[in-house]
Amino acid sequence: MRILVVGGGGREHAIIKKLKENPSVTEIFALPGNGGIAKDATCVDIGAKDIDKITEFAVANAVDYAVVAPDDPLVLGCVDALEAKGIPCFGPRANAAIIEGSKVFSKNLMKKYGIPTAAYEVFTDMDAALTYLETAPIPTVIKADGLALGKGVIIAMTRDEAKDAVRSMMADKVFGKSGDQIVIEEFLTGPEVSVLSFTDGKTVVPMISSMDHKRAGDNDTGLNTGGMGTVAPNPYYTDAIAAECMEKIFLPTIAAMNAEGRTFKGCLYFGLMLTPNGPKVIEYNCRFGDPETQVVLPLLESDLLTVMQATTNGTLAETEVKFANKNACCVIMASKGYPTAYEKGFEMTIPEAIWGNVYVAGASLKEGKLLTNGGRVLGATAIADSLEKAIEGAYDMVKTIHFDNAYYRNDIGAKALKAGRN
Ligand code: AMP
Ligand code: GLY
Repeated sequence: MRILVVGGGGREHAIIKKLKENPSVTEIFALPGNGGIAKDATCVDIGAKDIDKITEFAVANAVDYAVVAPDDPLVLGCVDALEAKGIPCFGPRANAAIIEGSKVFSKNLMKKYGIPTAAYEVFTDMDAALTYLETAPIPTVIKADGLALGKGVIIAMTRDEAKDAVRSMMADKVFGKSGDQIVIEEFLTGPEVSVLSFTDGKTVVPMISSMDHKRAGDNDTGLNTGGMGTVAPNPYYTDAIAAECMEKIFLPTIAAMNAEGRTFKGCLYFGLMLTPNGPKVIEYNCRFGDPETQVVLPLLESDLLTVMQATTNGTLAETEVKFANKNACCVIMASKGYPTAYEKGFEMTIPEAIWGNVYVAGASLKEGKLLTNGGRVLGATAIADSLEKAIEGAYDMVKTIHFDNAYYRNDIGAKALKAGRN
């Protein structure tokens, strides 16, 4: 089997490493991949949003199956384009990827089908939004409608902050057209849980739960990032909560998408908040999370390609999806300064013995040397029988990896460890 993976971050590296475990996989192309992924796949210099070139490449290279991992190509219709050429894909079509592509769509979907989420209002007019904010409960949450590189959500602690956020989105257009419409929603509190799921549009199979660490600094301080580390499972996500989420959120979402004529196939990511009034949806993503994937897939005991193909073929109900009864911790090493300004081009050394546990997010390969090439550089994942040991293992690995200006959080998993002990 010749497989094509669209994307080039740590998540894609984790997907590729898992796909390689299947002996029928003879070749994996990563478009564009990165310098680290190049050790495990054939990287091709085609951008993840260049749908025409991706499709052309897939046809010319007789690709048997394609995995479209990032949000942008999914929302832009990469799966539709590949399918039109007869190439089966893992991932939703554009009409279903809208569940992530438009916050207005997803909020209205949840309201229409009674799926628990924060109360909200939609605004297309800035003055109306500013007037609403005169009396809205504070803190409040302002969300740009469209994709915004994960930066389109602002938690405003004061009325002025909320108004500034609205002006920056709707007048200054900091997120371009993504800010033409905005959602202003109720501020919720409670532990956050990420639940990725496989679905073929009929059956939904949640993967092992996980916890992201979004802030740049220890103790959840500093700016929001793409994710500084993850643990799985998430100790807050008990069996009782999982059953409640299946009944009130997961199954109703799959049914709602079908009822709208937007059957979702692929990985549907539920970003949940366990509020005092029960679990609520904070966001849907139409894809694997990053860096959740780097702890979830290493715990998958079933063959990833087989499960992915079952989502495409509609045979998920008959397919085994099994996770190890273990814990995983992934610590992200970033470039100092991320998520704002940082330098790149520093040589990286990664001991060969831990390569299997390393997922490279931002690196280039020059004359055989791996150089840093992004804000988030890599993640190291350890698996163990306890969360404590997984955390220890991940940090032990991180300490053996070197590059100038390396930065990582020192407390990945600490909150989960505390919660697990209560
Ligand atoms: P998102 O980009 O949708 O993942 O949102 C980023 C982060 O903002 C989430 O992970 C939450 O921590 C936070 N957030 C989003 N919506 C709300 C809300 N309604 N109440 C409190 N926090 C929120
Ligand atoms: N880790 C959050 C995301 O992938 O959107």
